[in-house]
Amino acid sequence: MVLTGIRLTTFRNHRDTTVDFAPGINAFFGENGQGKTNILEAMSYLGLTKSFYAAGDADTAQFNEAGFAIEGRLMSDAGISHTARILYRREPPSKEMVVDGTEPETLASAVGRFPVVVLSPENSAITFGAPSDRRRFLDVILSQVSAAYLTDVMDYRHVLRQRNRILSEARMSGKPAGGILDPWTQSLVAAGARVCHRRWIFVEEFRETLINAYTSIVPEGEAPDIRYRPGFSGEMGDVNQIAEQFAGALVRQRNEEARRGSTLAGPHRDELEMTINGTNVQQFASQGQHKSFLVGLKVAEFAYVRDRRNETPLFLLDDVFSELDGRRAGKILTLVQGLGQTMVTATDDSAFGGAVPWGRDHRRFTVEHGTCRQAP
Ligand SMILES: Nc1ncnc2c1ncn2[C@@H]1O[C@H](COP(=O)(O)OP(=O)(O)OP(=O)(O)O)[C@@H](O)[C@H]1O
Ligand SMILES: [Mg+2]
Repeated sequence: MVLTGIRLTTFRNHRDTTVDFAPGINAFFGENGQGKTNILEAMSYLGLTKSFYAAGDADTAQFNEAGFAIEGRLMSDAGISHTARILYRREPPSKEMVVDGTEPETLASAVGRFPVVVLSPENSAITFGAPSDRRRFLDVILSQVSAAYLTDVMDYRHVLRQRNRILSEARMSGKPAGGILDPWTQSLVAAGARVCHRRWIFVEEFRETLINAYTSIVPEGEAPDIRYRPGFSGEMGDVNQIAEQFAGALVRQRNEEARRGSTLAGPHRDELEMTINGTNVQQFASQGQHKSFLVGLKVAEFAYVRDRRNETPLFLLDDVFSELDGRRAGKILTLVQGLGQTMVTATDDSAFGGAVPWGRDHRRFTVEHGTCRQAP
C-alpha cells in the first residue's frame, strides 16, 4: 500500500495542509513544535481509526474548531486506488470513516484495512517499561491480524475484572467466595487459554523475523531473542492443554487468591522476555541497544503484518533518528528503503547523510507553523 496524498483540515496545528507523497521515504524536517508529528498522527488515523498517541479525538481537533477532517488517497499493492476519510465533530461527539464512498459497518472493522506500523518515542516503553507495555505490543500486532484475538482479549479483560471484584469483596467481607466464583473461573480459563495459545504461537513465529530484522541493523556479534513467559507455571501445548494447565494453576493459588483478593495467574501476568546474547534487555541493555532492539521489533512487526494481511503497511517513524549515531541511522534508512513507503520526522537531515537519494522515489518536506511544503 502507498499513501499517495493526504489532506488535513483543522487537525492539530494544521489548518489546511495538503501533501503528495513519494512511494519511498518521505521525510519531514522542521524545528520543534512545527507540526511534523501531527502529520504522522493524521496518517495513523487512516489505518487505526484513532491516533497512535493515547490522545482522544477531542485533543487532535484544532483548538476552537468544531472538529477535523483527514482525507487520504491510497494505492493498494494490487494497484487499486482507494480513498479514505475520517471526520470528527466535537458536538455532539461523532466520528465517521468513509472508505471508497461507503461507511464501514463499524469503525473497528476498518482497523487494519490500511495497515500501519508506528515507531514513536513512546514505544520505548516496550523495551524499557513494565511487562504490561510488552503485552500491549503483542496485543496491538495480534489485533491487527486477527479479529478473533481482539474479541478474546476483550472477553478476558471483562471476566478478569468481574472475578477480581468477587475475590476482593469476599476478602473484605471475610466470607469465602465459594461457588459463585466457578463460572467466572471457567470463562477466564476459556478466554485466557485462547489468548495464551495465540501469543505463544505468535512469539515462536515472530522470533525468526526479529532475528533477521535485528541483524540487518546491528553489526554481527549481537544475538537478540524473545521468549513468551506465560503468567502461570505450566507447559504450552494446544488450547485444551493450556486450559488444563491454567485451570490447575488457579486451583493451586486458590488460598493465596482469597488472601490477596485478586486473580494471581493468567495472561494478564504474561511476560515477553527480550534478550541480547542471553542478557535481559530491560535490565541490562545500553541506550543504543534498546533503540536497536525496538527498531528490530518494529521492522519485524512490519514484515509480520505485511505477510499476514497481504498488504504492505505504511511505516511511520517519528523522531527515530535523534539519538542514533550516523552509522546506525544510515543502516536503518537503507533497510527501510527496501521495505515500502516510509514517513519519517527529524529536526534536520544531519542523520540522513547521503543515505537517501532524494528525487522521484524519496521526497523531503519542510514543516513550519502547521504548513508543509516539498523541499528540493
Ligand atoms: N489541538 C490542537 N490545536 C492546535 N494546535 C495544536 C493542537 N495540538 C497540538 N497543537 C500544536 O502542535 C504543535 C506540536 O506539533 P508536533 O507535535 O507535530 O510538533 P513536531 O514538529 O513534531 O515537534 P518536535 O520536533 O518537537 O517533535 C504545538 O505547537 C502544539 O501547540
Ligand atoms: Mg514530533
